[in-house]
Amino acid sequence: RWEGEAEIDYVFKVVVVGDSAVGKTQLLGRFTRDEFALDSKSTIGVEFQARTLTLHRKRVKAQIWDTAGQERYRAVTSAYYRGALGAMVVYDVTRRATFEHVPRWVEELRAHAEGSTVVALIGNKADMPAARREVAADEAARLAEEQGLFFSEASALTGDNVERAFLTLLEEVF
Ligand code: GTP
Repeated sequence: RWEGEAEIDYVFKVVVVGDSAVGKTQLLGRFTRDEFALDSKSTIGVEFQARTLTLHRKRVKAQIWDTAGQERYRAVTSAYYRGALGAMVVYDVTRRATFEHVPRWVEELRAHAEGSTVVALIGNKADMPAARREVAADEAARLAEEQGLFFSEASALTGDNVERAFLTLLEEVF
């Protein structure tokens, strides 16, 4: 038997969705490896990254799936959502359109994922200068409340709130 695997009590699948270039891949990189790549390329198809952590004295492997936001690269079928216990819908606080598409992403999630999937709304790129901001935090918080989602702004670049957002989601799944 493979020792590393033997110590894992649970595997939690989490999917990350949202428009292209909102920072999905970088949020994953920040959470799983504490890294940020300046020259990140658009995701093609589906990728996943994992991080094992301890929650309530159990070893939990968070397997986080990342898919392309760009329609033409999306091979998303129900397989992507199948078995997802948690989901993150990400928008970019400096691009209003990415926020306006949030209800569509939530709808797609609700259509394909299990009813019990815990969903978090994440406003990424909170590090950007205030003058560039196109979505206020309280407006997003209102939408999250209407849709029954957890909400947090975050920055994959600085790492602000990234750990907390993923941990809150995993705690809620637990
Ligand atoms: P697709 O794969 O096309 O769906 O994009 P994605 O949502 O995975 O976006 P990605 O992580 O590739 O990031 C897109 C761009 O935004 C890159 O140029 C990143 O460097 C930049 N970016 C991502 N997160 C942040 C952030 O928190 N702050 C800032 N300032 N830039 C960011």
